Amino acid sequence: MFRRTFFLVLLLAGCLPLAEAPNPTASETPTQGLSTLAEPRGLLVGTAVDPDWMDDPAYAALLAREFNLLTPENAMKFEVVHPEPERYDFQAADAVMAFAEAHNMQVRGHTLVWDSQLPEWVLQGDYTPEQWQDILRDHIYTVVGRYRGRILAWDVVNEALNDDGTLQDSFWRRKIGREYIALAFQWARAADPEALLFYNDNGGEGLNAKSQAVYALVQGLLEAGVPLDGVGLQMHTALGSAPTRQDLLANFQRLADLGIQIHITEMDVRLQYSDKPQAEKLRAQAEVYRDVLAACLQVQNCRAFVTWGLSDRYSWIEGFTGLPDQPLLFDRQGQPKPAYQAVREELASP
Ligand code: XIL
Repeated sequence: MFRRTFFLVLLLAGCLPLAEAPNPTASETPTQGLSTLAEPRGLLVGTAVDPDWMDDPAYAALLAREFNLLTPENAMKFEVVHPEPERYDFQAADAVMAFAEAHNMQVRGHTLVWDSQLPEWVLQGDYTPEQWQDILRDHIYTVVGRYRGRILAWDVVNEALNDDGTLQDSFWRRKIGREYIALAFQWARAADPEALLFYNDNGGEGLNAKSQAVYALVQGLLEAGVPLDGVGLQMHTALGSAPTRQDLLANFQRLADLGIQIHITEMDVRLQYSDKPQAEKLRAQAEVYRDVLAACLQVQNCRAFVTWGLSDRYSWIEGFTGLPDQPLLFDRQGQPKPAYQAVREELASP
């Protein structure tokens, strides 16, 4: 009797359309990417890219299948595009633009004003405050002007605040004064009136001193008539320290209430601080991605969701922390991880 039932079950199972199972397992490769699911929801999904890897057909195919938004991870930074006072080099940036345009993808320009990745001539430069203004204006006009009309959004100012909420004693503040932020936005607007202009920072994604300061900074800029269209929340986070969905939602909502957009600009989730078994870590990581995306989908002005690298193979985290990690949606072979499935499920959920 038992054997008969067993074979009946097997027989029935064989008739079921297994290939169309609604929840593909982590190892199955979907034919339609995240962007197909995100588009009807008014959300762009993207990742940071390096043009050096775009020649790899597997890298290019995965990018094109999954995403409709690209951020050059380094190719538009000051030291890359403006290596000498009178010399700009747009080779890498142009390559990212060409790939995006050939594949019908949007681009987030990253980043115009930041302390990191400045060339030696800037770091060692000895100029008057007026000359520093001229240098930064020229830089913004030239870089933004080159891609005028072709860039969705620029991270105009990156990481200007400390974690305690105070304004950083940053390079450009020391050279120009506190007004460097407002000036940068004005110059960017003049150089490309169509591009959305963002303030981008990390650590202020949930509710804390930093997010309070981001809110206050942005509110002040808007009140002063500075052209600012959105806040980029980087979302470099880790198991054990990720903000809760509730806090994310509250922060996104208050920013949205200022009438600006929110973009998740650089998401990754480090596993390295947890000593749980790997499978458990991957599941917990998936829930962090799910929380962030769910909060974003709940706030209408949250319009972009970007991870900082295509797959674990290309993540900056190992170089940055010196430890192995797997912080992204795809594994080193480009196969979808539980985090990818969680993102898919959220995008597909009503
Ligand atoms: C990182 C890149 O991923 C690295 O390749 C580079 O060596 C350093 O910068 N916040 C930012 C990004 O705004 O530009 C940084 O990108 C990561 C932190």
